[in-house]
Amino acid sequence: MQAADQPLLTTKGLTRRFGGLVAVSNLDFEIRPREILGLIGPNGAGKSTTFNLISGFYKPTAGELFVFGRNCTGKSPLAISRMGLVRTFQHGSLMRSMSVRDNILLGTIHGVGRGARRRERVAETAEMLGLTPYLADEAGTLPHGLQRLVSIGIAFAARPRLLCLDEPLTGLNQTEVANTLTVLQRIRDEFGCSVLLVEHNMKAVMSVCDRIVVLHHGQHLATGTPTEIRANGNVIDAYLGHRHGH
Ligand SMILES: Nc1ncnc2c1ncn2[C@@H]1O[C@H](COP(=O)(O)OP(=O)(O)OP(=O)(O)O)[C@@H](O)[C@H]1O
Ligand SMILES: [Mg+2]
Repeated sequence: MQAADQPLLTTKGLTRRFGGLVAVSNLDFEIRPREILGLIGPNGAGKSTTFNLISGFYKPTAGELFVFGRNCTGKSPLAISRMGLVRTFQHGSLMRSMSVRDNILLGTIHGVGRGARRRERVAETAEMLGLTPYLADEAGTLPHGLQRLVSIGIAFAARPRLLCLDEPLTGLNQTEVANTLTVLQRIRDEFGCSVLLVEHNMKAVMSVCDRIVVLHHGQHLATGTPTEIRANGNVIDAYLGHRHGH
């Protein structure tokens, strides 16, 4: 296999139990270069647990995790982020009382270099995200949509090969959603970064993702293009039908 086509991340039989509950069960999937991969499923399906497993925050009960073909099972979050895999948290990861500039600067702590190089990186990141006018503002005072972009900016400032976002669109209005989706596409198109998107907003997932993985009760239910997933009877029964009542 050509190095350029090698998956960024592969899981084999990834499993995580909490007591008697199997939150993620025997999961196999891969994330490819330059793709936006959606990870969907009803509440409690195991999406955030999968996130925590692949970013090293949880150790798997069983199974393996490969990053660029290297076995990274059991590696620390820092070791995994240094391999180019960076995440945000479902309930936000920004410092509310710090400026937007200082928040984004946090994302450049590792591997970017010294002062001038880091400041350049912050400026470039802010420009990408449309945050340049807000750099001096206290992050906690910004509208919801901009705060969310700051969280993405912190993660993207490290220029990861894979950016993992847990429900980045929750609570945003339509304009903010459209704006954030454009940012994700630019991150992919201009920087060749892959995106793993955990999201409940189906319209957004269907419009922006190249492929989608569906979880249900911790189990893998389907993988496919948005068109395939929309037409998949199991998915409609387990998830779409369940949530939208048709
Ligand atoms: N740290 C934990 N301890 C015990 N149980 C947990 C823990 N984390 C998750 N779970 C359980 O594992 C299952 C999967 O949870 P998870 O948070 O991964 O779901 P999710 O797909 O992200 O859901 P949501 O859409 O609500 O965010 C749930 O039943 C949850 O209660
Ligand atoms: Mg979750």
